[in-house]
Amino acid sequence: MGPDDEVCYCFHVSLRKLLNYSRRVRPQHASQMTACLGAGTGCGWCIPVLTRIAQSPDAPELEAMLAEDYGRQREAYLKEDAPRHTFEE
Ligand code: FES
Repeated sequence: MGPDDEVCYCFHVSLRKLLNYSRRVRPQHASQMTACLGAGTGCGWCIPVLTRIAQSPDAPELEAMLAEDYGRQREAYLKEDAPRHTFEE
């Protein structure tokens, strides 16, 4: 996955936008990432990634964390009858 690929599919927010936002704002809580174009306020799929970005936007493993099948995994997430991801505060 590259920097211009979407992390939040619901609001079409790219990894680059989220990293830049997190580096600039340095959020105290992961839920503050929602102020970046509404990321995380839809289906919740991207919330674990948003949390990692909020915690450490310069971590080298972030891009690797977003596997090539990130989008396909979301499709399965949407179909399953399980609790949605939420921000932990
Ligand atoms: S993919 Fe981010 S809220 Fe749905």
